[in-house]
Amino acid sequence: MGITAFRDLVLSEGSKHYRKMPWRETANPYRILLSEVMLQQTQVDRVVSYYNAFTRTFPSINNLANASLTQVLSLWSGLGYNRRGKWLHESAQKIVREFSGEIPHSINTLTELPGIGYNTAAAICVYAFNKPEVFVETNIRTVYIHYFFKNRVNESGVHDKEILALQTEVLAQNVNPRIWYLSLMDYGAFLKKTIGNISQKKHSLSQAEHV
Ligand code: ADE
Repeated sequence: MGITAFRDLVLSEGSKHYRKMPWRETANPYRILLSEVMLQQTQVDRVVSYYNAFTRTFPSINNLANASLTQVLSLWSGLGYNRRGKWLHESAQKIVREFSGEIPHSINTLTELPGIGYNTAAAICVYAFNKPEVFVETNIRTVYIHYFFKNRVNESGVHDKEILALQTEVLAQNVNPRIWYLSLMDYGAFLKKTIGNISQKKHSLSQAEHV
């Protein structure tokens, strides 16, 4: 399939399978950062109530930075990987201290924050600032494998490098980055539910973000 036909198909399927989520209804970069940190290793359904509790208790990054670590960790409790909560708190303090509370707009600066790896930084740039950054995660892999690497699913696996190359090509087309990524993630989630999970990662080059 050609790259523009693929783009059009994914945009169309993505809008059919759009999933409503609270952090998709805001343009507030702090809230988007919060959601992306919570979504590392954690399913969307489980994140929603924690995201709502955090935004209610700490409506701004200043509120989060000024809270005690105990308060942050008690609100985080149950979400898992508690170091993420500690790092989130430290990141908020660093952003307030060094960037006057403004979420940085670049991957390089974002990855200097504790607990923010390449993929999280790229996702923040896409969803908060609509920048055409290139990254791959599990639902995105599923879509690309389904259309470009079907014959290799049970054999050698598909290298992230190959998916990143295609992703770079699509983003060089006329596409809105935020809408593109939402479509990929939603269509990928739909494909996983219907055709099974074919996205196992092999020989990954992407930054480890596991905490
Ligand atoms: N929408 C925005 N960011 C997302 C993410 N990381 N996973 C799923 N849906 C999202």
